[in-house]
Amino acid sequence: MIVLVGFMGAGKTTVGQLLAERLQLPFTDTDAVCEQRAGRPVGDVFATEGEEAFRDLEQRAVADVLAGPEAVVALGGGACGRPATREVLAAHTVVHLRVGFEEVLRRIGGDPLRPLLHRPGLRELHAGRAAVYESVASLTVDVDGRSPEEVADEVLARR
Ligand code: S3P
Repeated sequence: MIVLVGFMGAGKTTVGQLLAERLQLPFTDTDAVCEQRAGRPVGDVFATEGEEAFRDLEQRAVADVLAGPEAVVALGGGACGRPATREVLAAHTVVHLRVGFEEVLRRIGGDPLRPLLHRPGLRELHAGRAAVYESVASLTVDVDGRSPEEVADEVLARR
C-alpha cells in the first residue's frame, strides 16, 4: 500500500487520486469509508457522537482498508493519533505530505465541513501532529506552494 498521511489541507485526497491513476491502483479515502459506514458525514458523527466515537470508527476503517487489496490510501488527518493505527502503518509505504500552518489556512481556512478547523489550539495541534506523522512516515514531501501533480511526481520518484 501507499498510505498518505498529513494535516487537513495537505492534499491527501487529491494527490492520492493522482497517484492511484498513475499506478493503476484503486484509491481509498478512509474518511469516505467512515462516512459510508456511519451513513452520514464525518462532521455529523463528531457533532452527535463525539470525537472518540469517530476515532473508534476511523481506527476500524483504517485497519480494514490496510488489510485489504493493494491500493493508494489517504488517511484522515487525525487517524495516526491511535497507537494501534501507527502499529499497522509500519508494514506499509507511508508518505507524509507536509503542509505549513499558514498554507493550511490559505487552502481550507473557510471550510465549514471540517470540525477541527474551528477549534482553538489549531496551531498547536498542527505542530504536535507533524511529529507524529514524521514518526510513521517512510518519506516526507513538502507541499507548500506546489501543485498536486508536482507532489505526486515527487512521491513517485522517491518512493
Ligand atoms: C480530521 C481530519 C479530517 C477528518 C475529520 C478529522 C482531523 O480528514 O478525518 O474531520 O482530526 O485532522 P482530512 O485530513 O482528510 O481533512
